Amino acid sequence: MSDLASVAKALVASGKGILAADESTSTIKRRFDAIGVENTEDNRRAYRELLFRTPGIGTYISGVILYDETIRQKAADGTPLVKLLTDQGVIPGIKVDIGAKPLPKSPKETVTEGLDGLRERLAEYKSLGAQFSKWRAVINIEGDDIPSLYSIRVNAHALARYAALSQEAGIVPIVEPEVLMDGTHSIDRCFEVQVRTLRTVFNQLASQRVDFDGMLLKPAMVLSGKDATNRAPAADVARYTLECFLSSVPAMVPGIVFLSGGQSDNEATLNLDAINRRAAELGRVPWQLTFSYGRGLQAAPQKAWSGKKENVAAAQRAFAHRSRLTSAARMGSYTPAMEKESVSP
Ligand code: 13P
Repeated sequence: MSDLASVAKALVASGKGILAADESTSTIKRRFDAIGVENTEDNRRAYRELLFRTPGIGTYISGVILYDETIRQKAADGTPLVKLLTDQGVIPGIKVDIGAKPLPKSPKETVTEGLDGLRERLAEYKSLGAQFSKWRAVINIEGDDIPSLYSIRVNAHALARYAALSQEAGIVPIVEPEVLMDGTHSIDRCFEVQVRTLRTVFNQLASQRVDFDGMLLKPAMVLSGKDATNRAPAADVARYTLECFLSSVPAMVPGIVFLSGGQSDNEATLNLDAINRRAAELGRVPWQLTFSYGRGLQAAPQKAWSGKKENVAAAQRAFAHRSRLTSAARMGSYTPAMEKESVSP
């Protein structure tokens, strides 16, 4: 097995999934604003240090996606944050896109930038310890005409350019074509957009010679829009999601790592659990189905921490607890009663 394939497999190992801690400085500001914490470099370091030092986290977390600032940062005692992860058996990764920008001639849509100089940046990230990377494209649903085929195509092309460069650098690409849950659309409309997007993405990945066994896919689940009436329950989410991926994702891809995408942490856990239960029922699902959650894992520890030193242990307990529940969901063995279990790690 190639090195890329073995890292990809390790990232989706049984019982494990990924923590997305790659919020840009402006995104983490929104999270810190919500808990009344000032967005300084030192607070960002303190918060991420807290997460990465959580005892036993390597049992549930296979890898962490870092932001450019974080991969270079040191803990208060001078240990590189990357080393805190590798000491826990956790694989460091890096976000390499530089964000979704307005799409020319279709101002309500975006295209993700960051290809210029990417070969050189990937080489540097590799030297800093990154073994995998992530690029996020954003596809929004609005009425009948958005997303346009134009937006899906340019984003898929960029994702494949990124994935090929990442594999060339010896870094496993996590290809993230996020279909946003914002809006009032039905789950059927989400299904249709997801299938069209994924087929276009895999077509581009194949054209650009990306090895499917040395990559992971990071999609949203197939969901009703956040503001839809009668939102589909978890059993429907599982049914639609599996049908969508079975009809668009090659079997050779080792894993699908879902983003949480603005679902509450309970909802993201319940839906991941339902997807894994459904996959076990079907018995012919070729990939590991796990998580690469940002908000789904961090909402609870952020609230518990609230920027205070004396809350660090409580925040770590909250993070370990959420990780344990999400890991159970990834195995199809989560029950809502587990939410009330003691939060000691
Ligand atoms: P959420 O789980 O908060 O959607 O974040 C995952 C991620 O990495 C989005 O790019």
